[in-house]
Amino acid sequence: MSQVVRRPIVAANWKMHKVRAEAREFCRTVVGELGAPPAEVVVFPSFPLLDVVADGLAGMPVAIGGQDLHPEPSGPHTGDVAGMQLADAGCTWVLCGHSERRSEHGESDELVGRKALAAVASELTPLICLGEQLEERRAGRTFEVLGRQLEAALAGGPQRFELAYEPVWAIGTGETATPEVAQEAHAFLRAELGRRVGDEGAASTRILYGGSVKPGNAAALIAQRDVDGFLVGGAALDARSFLAIIGACGAS
Ligand code: 13P
Repeated sequence: MSQVVRRPIVAANWKMHKVRAEAREFCRTVVGELGAPPAEVVVFPSFPLLDVVADGLAGMPVAIGGQDLHPEPSGPHTGDVAGMQLADAGCTWVLCGHSERRSEHGESDELVGRKALAAVASELTPLICLGEQLEERRAGRTFEVLGRQLEAALAGGPQRFELAYEPVWAIGTGETATPEVAQEAHAFLRAELGRRVGDEGAASTRILYGGSVKPGNAAALIAQRDVDGFLVGGAALDARSFLAIIGACGAS
């Protein structure tokens, strides 16, 4: 596979946390301390906070994204959000298939693929989330699950996307995948990508790791050949800890 330099991405997934004043405070710290980051930086706030974060980080090298979108471009879908509404709110990214959407809202592999296409149609970059559950790992089915999720997510041939490997057993548990375990999964995903989108596409796709990433474990993870950044939950609620994780991407 050709040697390509992949600029890391460090993304904050705030999930269902923060109110406007807290979001503003986070933005103030980032504006004061981010400098020239060694990574692309993205923040995924809840929908009602998108405008606060867009305003608070205006002019900063930070992109914003939605945590989900509906697969249809518009229509009678109460409670859902369309890709074009996210784009209109200043988003350039959207999460697709986060494990909490899959488990709490029954999102199927197939639906995640439709959402990825809807994202691209609205000029958003889908950050497609994949990951096995603990029982699946214990049963030796990790690669089978990741292969199935990847195939369905890319079935419609989205023109652009990046991936996040988030083993479900590591999300919010404090139990991070070891660098070796993460690397093994990332290498598998890149090889699978090669079969689906060709070597060049596979070599340029960023594969982020997510699951209990903290300032203290980020450097060892980013040092892995196929780990291209992070999707951070809990540790990205605090601006300084998020900044430290971004900083870890410049140390290697
Ligand atoms: P934690 O970093 O809190 O484990 O969450 C990971 C995650 O789900 C990011 O999308």
